[in-house]
Amino acid sequence: MKIKALFIPLLVYIISACQTIPETRAVSDKYRLIWNDDPATNITLAWDQHELANPVVWFGTRDKGRAFWKYEASKSADRILDKYGMTTHFTKLSNLKPDTEYYFVIKDDTGVSERYWFKTAPDKPEAFTFIAGGDTKSSGDPLEAGRASHRLVSKLRPLFVMFNGDFCSGDGTDPEAWQLWLKDWHELTTTDDGRMIPIFPLHGNHENGDKANLNYIFNSPYQYNDSSHIYYSVSFGGDFVHLMALNSSIDQAGEQRQWLENDFKRNADYRIKIAGYHKPMWPHTQKKPEQPYQYNQWAHLFYTYGLNLSFDGDSHMSKITYPLRPDSSAVDSYMGYVRDDERGTMFLGEGSYGAYPRANDDDKPWTIKSFSGNQIKWMHVMPAENDLPDRISIYTVISATYDEEGNQTLYDAEVESLNESNLFDVPKGITLVENGIYGKVIKYPFNLN
Ligand SMILES: [Fe+2]
Repeated sequence: MKIKALFIPLLVYIISACQTIPETRAVSDKYRLIWNDDPATNITLAWDQHELANPVVWFGTRDKGRAFWKYEASKSADRILDKYGMTTHFTKLSNLKPDTEYYFVIKDDTGVSERYWFKTAPDKPEAFTFIAGGDTKSSGDPLEAGRASHRLVSKLRPLFVMFNGDFCSGDGTDPEAWQLWLKDWHELTTTDDGRMIPIFPLHGNHENGDKANLNYIFNSPYQYNDSSHIYYSVSFGGDFVHLMALNSSIDQAGEQRQWLENDFKRNADYRIKIAGYHKPMWPHTQKKPEQPYQYNQWAHLFYTYGLNLSFDGDSHMSKITYPLRPDSSAVDSYMGYVRDDERGTMFLGEGSYGAYPRANDDDKPWTIKSFSGNQIKWMHVMPAENDLPDRISIYTVISATYDEEGNQTLYDAEVESLNESNLFDVPKGITLVENGIYGKVIKYPFNLN
């Protein structure tokens, strides 16, 4: 018995010591990490596998570089999908430790990928940052502006990115456009030390060619057993944050409205509630029609159930509103909204992550600031401490602008990269939109301004 007890670990050691890291790389690319379930303990890893070569994800909490056999755990794909010229593999990693760094490689019969890493979300209230933005295009200057926004993601190292829909030019069924987007996302949002930033994706109208697109690309959840009903939510940080992904490309009433109300009720105890969707209710450019139907379906639910922040896209410009309460009868009501600094929802977004900016020519009386240019929203979220409540600082980070001749300027190159110990600093070289009387940052709750 004793000899056996000694022999087996020795054998394992010898085998391990004899292993060498293959020089060849796995035949896969377009890696992305996705939030579609409790992100404190789960993450979905997806990639495009070029040859069916038995790919396996090796992962663990200790960095073993590309020495795949040294990682604590391994898992092969849960779902393989041939779509848009890609053989997409999805692997859901579950039972992870919250607020923890995980390292991974993908190993297949051909070789081993680079080593990447990610962070799980916390399971108690803790400070974090996130980025929200949407609307990218597949060619020309708008493609380059979107790439600048991607590089800003890598430099700012948020916990996750809410992407508010409209990934590609066209209707979301062009294989080359998806392949380009996913390749860019992998290569440009990953930090220089291999940290991959998870995406929390939302459906936009440029995905309407197949309303199940986000399920094909990100394994996004859907409701009512209908893959065209892509809306879902995740929560993290204990009772800290609830995040909702809504869908403005399908009926906002009916089943979706019912789901939204149920979701609010189920998650009433979360201290910060954030919703994302693609089409703004009241766009800040005249080129886009108002959406009274959407207002009628969602605005009162948002207020009744205490939605704090709302993020949209679609218009290709930027806006930040005061906190708003739906109220059509008040004297100072405009488009059914009045300012309510105590309990209102702040509406942010309008989507110019990459797409060519439209004019900001439709401000409302309750608009704080609109802006025509490429930008992403960068939020610093802090839990209550001492005399301070739960609070959010909102920055609008410029990624590209155009002069009158249409010449593009990109703003990412001069931005100093943050690292894991200064994630809440505002880096040197960043260009922020000045928000009227409030300067470069807007705070929520609004009385902190
Ligand atoms: Fe759109």
